[in-house]
Amino acid sequence: MITIVGSGKVGGAAALFTALRKVTDEILLLDVVQGLPQGEAMDLNHMLSEKGIDVNIRGSNDYSEMKGSDIVVVVAGSGRKPGMTRMDLLKINASIVKGVVENIKKFAKDAMIVPVTNPLDPMAYLTYKVSGFQKNRIFGMGNMLDLSRFIQFIHESTGYSRNSIRALVIGEHGENMLPLHRYSTVSGIPLTSLLSKQKADEIVQGTRQVAAKVIELKGATVHAPGNAISAIIEAVLRDTKQVIPVATYLDGEYGHSNVSIGVPVVLGKNGVEKILELDLDSNEKEWFAKGVESVKTAISGLEL
Ligand code: 2OP
Repeated sequence: MITIVGSGKVGGAAALFTALRKVTDEILLLDVVQGLPQGEAMDLNHMLSEKGIDVNIRGSNDYSEMKGSDIVVVVAGSGRKPGMTRMDLLKINASIVKGVVENIKKFAKDAMIVPVTNPLDPMAYLTYKVSGFQKNRIFGMGNMLDLSRFIQFIHESTGYSRNSIRALVIGEHGENMLPLHRYSTVSGIPLTSLLSKQKADEIVQGTRQVAAKVIELKGATVHAPGNAISAIIEAVLRDTKQVIPVATYLDGEYGHSNVSIGVPVVLGKNGVEKILELDLDSNEKEWFAKGVESVKTAISGLEL
């Protein structure tokens, strides 16, 4: 059973894409708003009926119903409005996420947690500290989404199939994210040999900024985050051992400690089964460190 706390657009999309992957038979949508999760669940079940998919989606306002969840996804909180950075949401969302995590501790103490609420990396740290769960059981969805955007830029720039593209984005899910074109390929052919340095720099910058553009145009990002959440859930429930970048707690890896930030990990039935350390060049190390600094500044102001 999967629980998704927060039944707005991203929560609904996460339920939709998770159901379509057929990796669980039950999805619970929770929200404080009366009627919203129930209505969303009905709408989704109607869609699944036509498709003949027997995943049951339920909506509730009662946290105790998350009992028995394998994974709890935390989407609750305010989303970015046009002109806002993810960090602008820190204060308002920290208290919401803290309350949700207290409830997970109470009702689903054996679950794994996927923080999604922004600012993502500080929320992943808060979740780790407030839950007291082992660090492998908490993995924030941020870079997986950045990665899907980076792949789209590589697809647009090369004209090659998305299916042939393997890429990586690590670091802060924010202004200092680090799309790694040096570690990206099209069917094994290094991106560095397919794109000029200028073009590569351009798509790295585009990847950092494109969410703000979507928010400016349509008010929110919805399908890409919903799908990225479902990809992480699938890797865990199917025990695929996929290498996916998630926000996890660092304890010396990449030369940093006492911070949660995006790095590539092996995801399987035990959550984060291994953190993969990459050999970063000096420029990449600098961006990564800037991200760590930004997250540390944010978490230093949190009451945990
Ligand atoms: C996104 O990148 C806003 O963090 C959210 O879509």
